[in-house]
Amino acid sequence: MKRTLPSWLHKAVFYQIYPQSFYDSNNDGVGDIPGIIEKLDYLETLGVNALWINPCFVSPFQDAGYDVADYYQVAPRYGTNQDLEKLFAEAKQRGMRVLLDLVPGHTSVEHPWFQESQKHKVNPYTDYYIWNNSIWDMPLEDLQVIRGYGERDAGYITNFFWFQPALNYGFTQTDPAYSWMQTVDAPGPNMVREEIKKIMSYWLEKGASGFRVDMAASLVKRDLDKTETARFWRWIRDWLEETYPDVVMVSEWGSPAQAIPAGFHVDFLLGFNNPGWVSLFRKRGNGRWRDPYSWSFFDESGHGDIRQFLDEYLYYLEKISDQGYIALITGNHDETPRLANGRSQAMMKLIYLFLLTMPGTPFIYYGDEIGMRFRDLPSKEGGYTRTGARTPMQWSNEKNAGFSGAAAESLYLPVDPAKNCPTVTEQDADPDSLLNRIRELIRLRQALPALDADAKFEVLYAESGKLPFVYSMTKDKQKLIIALNPSGQRVSIDLPLNISDTVPKVIDAPENTEIKRMDSGWHLSLGPVSGAIYRIS
Ligand code: GLC
Repeated sequence: MKRTLPSWLHKAVFYQIYPQSFYDSNNDGVGDIPGIIEKLDYLETLGVNALWINPCFVSPFQDAGYDVADYYQVAPRYGTNQDLEKLFAEAKQRGMRVLLDLVPGHTSVEHPWFQESQKHKVNPYTDYYIWNNSIWDMPLEDLQVIRGYGERDAGYITNFFWFQPALNYGFTQTDPAYSWMQTVDAPGPNMVREEIKKIMSYWLEKGASGFRVDMAASLVKRDLDKTETARFWRWIRDWLEETYPDVVMVSEWGSPAQAIPAGFHVDFLLGFNNPGWVSLFRKRGNGRWRDPYSWSFFDESGHGDIRQFLDEYLYYLEKISDQGYIALITGNHDETPRLANGRSQAMMKLIYLFLLTMPGTPFIYYGDEIGMRFRDLPSKEGGYTRTGARTPMQWSNEKNAGFSGAAAESLYLPVDPAKNCPTVTEQDADPDSLLNRIRELIRLRQALPALDADAKFEVLYAESGKLPFVYSMTKDKQKLIIALNPSGQRVSIDLPLNISDTVPKVIDAPENTEIKRMDSGWHLSLGPVSGAIYRIS
């Protein structure tokens, strides 16, 4: 089947909202949907045109809502289904789309399907989840089994925490030694697949523009090369192409080479699977961000290595060949610490210059546009080490940083107590602030075809252990050169003459950068922690 990419995706700049922490409109200490609606004007001034909201459905919130107990009902603490519909409509009026978070792989143990499934007596939900034959069965190496829950003499397979039982999509490789492993076309998996489609339809009819899909690769078990999981998602995409062609699916997969052919429009690069992405923004080589011997690329020391990122990125870019996009994120509710930790404002501005001039789909995590910081906090709702990246948005220097009128002790999480904690109000008023810089860069991205998601990306200079990093972006006969120097030292380089015959025009560059024609080529010189955009055609 022919795939099309909705045209709005070419210019999409996403903003991720963790609803508990964005804005509390009714002063109960927890953010809510009417609160998001109140802040749409702010989001419009930022220039983002798409939102992703973390799960906002009925849940016991043992994993911040990734343990859904009713897919069809907004959690009362966030408001009502009507509020969510109003959000879709109000966002639409401002030219913004809203993506919900779909958790297809598991539910809460409190979900009525699971409550039926755990019963001794066989019923229509018995095979909605994956149960082994007896609680006395020995554990397996590759599947987490929870024993001792409920009436049924069986253990269930869980996807993440113990209270997130895996829905039954079947097994690619079954095993005669375990008769309970069902094939993907068994009745249980067939019913589960239809349920997911039904949930999606319900919210798309109400006005959602798509979904960010939680643990999208996790569905079918013992599916080593993900063939059967991908078959499911392609089935979903085929249906969307026919029924909702403007809808967008974004996967939490961390492998665009698998996710895009599987039918997703966009896939994230993420900490758990993408050391190249980690090497850009987080000081952690080999998965350990606290490792003092590994340097992120965006570090004043200049010790970072852009090849670590590019080798991964270019591999994926080639594999997805115009069928979808890679999402570069500033962070999310799982990634730690936040981007701004340990970084200067100049470095943050440079990071956004990069993020907003790369192809694909950029995602800004709420608060990262003002440089909110991560703090070590006790776990809240299954956040554990992630909790400090989920604190209330800092709107102003009023009570609770303007997040809520509730007593400080009853807030979802404490606001940043630092005297100099960044706020929207303060940065709004400062023409030089990070916030205003991001607004400017988003405007530029919207205005220039060469900054579209599908523009052609070419590396002009990227050497291991050397700087700067220079690339070009081309679309519709427009060609831009982008040069970045994250180090605290001035760096210079000679680019070959053939990149341009005429003097490149400055689109966006500080005074301490210059590009000059020499006999040997174009001489490009960048001051400490700076970056520039030039137009060459
Ligand atoms: C995803 C979510 C994470 C959640 C997990 C289980 O990784 O982003 O927050 O805990 O899935 O649903």
